[in-house]
Amino acid sequence: MGEVAKRAARLRELIDEANYRYHVLDDPTIADVRYDALMRELEEIEQAHPELRSPDSPTLRVGAKAQGEFAPVHHAKPMLSLGNAFSEQEVREFVARISTSLGEPAPSFSTEPKLDGLAISLRYEDGVFVRGATRGDGATGEDVTANLRTIRAIPLRLRGDAPKLIEVRGEVFMPRAAFEAFNARARAKGDKPLANPRNGAAGSLRQLDSRITASRPLSFYAYALGAISGWTPAPRHSGVLQQFRDFGLPVCPDVGIAVGAEGLLAYFERIGARRDKLPYDIDGVVYKLDRLDQQEAMGFVSRAPRWALAHKFPAQEQTTRVEAIDVQVGRTGAITPVARLAPVNVAGVVVTNATLHNADQIARLDVRVGDSVIVRRAGDVIPEVVSVVLDERPRDDDGTPLNPPFSMPTSCPVCGSDVVREEGEVAARCTGELFCPAQRKQSLIHFASRRAMDIEGLGDRLIDDLVELGYLSTVADLYRLTLDDFLEMRRRADQRDGTVPETAKGGKVASKWAQNLLDSIAGSRATTLERVLFALGIRDVGESTAKTLARHFGSLDALMSADEAQLLDVPDVGPVVARRIATFFHEAHNREVIAKLRAAGVAWAEGPPQRSTEGPLVGKTVVLTGALSGMSRDLAGDRLEALGAKVSGSVSKKTSFVVAGEAAGSKLEKAIELGVEVWDEARLLDFLDKHAQ
Ligand code: IVH
Repeated sequence: MGEVAKRAARLRELIDEANYRYHVLDDPTIADVRYDALMRELEEIEQAHPELRSPDSPTLRVGAKAQGEFAPVHHAKPMLSLGNAFSEQEVREFVARISTSLGEPAPSFSTEPKLDGLAISLRYEDGVFVRGATRGDGATGEDVTANLRTIRAIPLRLRGDAPKLIEVRGEVFMPRAAFEAFNARARAKGDKPLANPRNGAAGSLRQLDSRITASRPLSFYAYALGAISGWTPAPRHSGVLQQFRDFGLPVCPDVGIAVGAEGLLAYFERIGARRDKLPYDIDGVVYKLDRLDQQEAMGFVSRAPRWALAHKFPAQEQTTRVEAIDVQVGRTGAITPVARLAPVNVAGVVVTNATLHNADQIARLDVRVGDSVIVRRAGDVIPEVVSVVLDERPRDDDGTPLNPPFSMPTSCPVCGSDVVREEGEVAARCTGELFCPAQRKQSLIHFASRRAMDIEGLGDRLIDDLVELGYLSTVADLYRLTLDDFLEMRRRADQRDGTVPETAKGGKVASKWAQNLLDSIAGSRATTLERVLFALGIRDVGESTAKTLARHFGSLDALMSADEAQLLDVPDVGPVVARRIATFFHEAHNREVIAKLRAAGVAWAEGPPQRSTEGPLVGKTVVLTGALSGMSRDLAGDRLEALGAKVSGSVSKKTSFVVAGEAAGSKLEKAIELGVEVWDEARLLDFLDKHAQ
């Protein structure tokens, strides 16, 4: 053999070994880059010396251009199906049947996950993979050799002493993580995602261009024998699985052995409990009589062996019809579209609603009223619409769909306020934070909280009752409540809950709590602008932003009439928050509530904007980033502003200097990139010291 031929053979060995370690032993020893380098080197040799290409070369795994259709393949031994069981009873009957027939009280079984992919048969002649076929009707399948070659888990040559002929049956599947990653990439590129891992596997194998198959993250587990010659299988199925591993064929790591019906059912429970965490999709488990001689003794009925059984989980997916598409408004204003479905039993639960998540998801699915859809309910997860059965879409005689695509509402179905979807956000939201009944409880809880209006005694439970019994619509209503309202509300709540009315205990009406509450509501009227701003519950306007806004604008009216550009002038307010503030005050419903708050006597001191117009930092824009050890960033900001600086949240060419504390990140990088002056904490402290007022 020439040097080049030797090197090519060595490269194939190294690559095969890497695949074996990765897929069979689950113990990879070389890095991806090294693997890729080996493949590239081999590819180059084969290009220069085509005569060195061999039918088992891993370079064949990259796929090739379309050929015609798939040729039919007759299976030397038919590919059987499995009898199904859905209940413990059926499993017990299966074991009893075998016990009786064999006169064996406790037969042992190989227990295996029932992989949810595509069954295939691999034919190896003298150890070399020569042909692979789908199951088809069991007697004849389709030749998908070129596609199967691209799957790295499938060895192109068996390890060790190879049989003259061996057909290996198993499942091609798409590991769940690979499926998720594939779909994330597809969505990012605007491509259509795969409906589920099973469709992913099936669709990938049916590609006429195997380069497409090569780009799909498929894997393979072997689980059965087909035709063999020149080789003796182990006497037990579990032994055959070990022989598969020795040949370099991957076998599912979660297979086991169990004895008797109880052993099988225990395995079913164990796998069922792990189902959601398994790295591959399954739809049940498979029990196979372990001893091959016993298998033979049991034989077959029609096209299924009597020695094996598929014990299936209840189906997680069902087909049903969309009767309507509604949208729900969440407590934070997020708008979620929901499909109203003709009732259907999915895995033991009647499902009538399924989430459609958001506008993107609806566009992806193109789901319309009247469509047949596949709904899925997995574990405790909310049922969701997986896909639309397009063939069943209702159409008129011309084939035009009867129903238009669904579009998200532009105003809130609960309160009529504008619905907006911010750039980069998946959820659309109702902007009537203060007004929308769906958001009422949330906004009241926040409004009353200690750091907002600080209304002592107005807790979540009480707010629930006040809202549910109709005493409160918006935060402004709080200031209209009377002692009688509270007492009446409590009476009705007690009645509703069937609890002993505390208000009437001992014949005396307990009203102190209500009086205290009224006092704290009344007391909250005199407040500060920053508290009111925080209490309004504008998204992303926390205490510190509220404080900055109060100082910057001086009055609520000035803030309410500020446009986005003016808001961007505020230190620490970026484009997203500026947009949110503007949207909030733009919504007439919110402005109404604010007017009512004022009318109810909620008052605060207002003054001119407080920006120092003198001091050593007038006209300077400063950005604080990273953690300071000597003082909080807020305090540092206050002191810089007191010296006339404008403190900003983002670095630009206009930034005068950046104060970088501990673990400063991207803002510091940006400053360096733009050549902006950078101060450390010591320099800041020194400066503040020198200019202490
Ligand atoms: S054994 C004679 N083992 O189940 C037995 N099948 O209905 C032949 N399947 O289409 C099959 N996991 O795709 C076997 N561990 C497993 C399996 C399994 C999934 C599928 C296979 C076939 C179907 C049989």
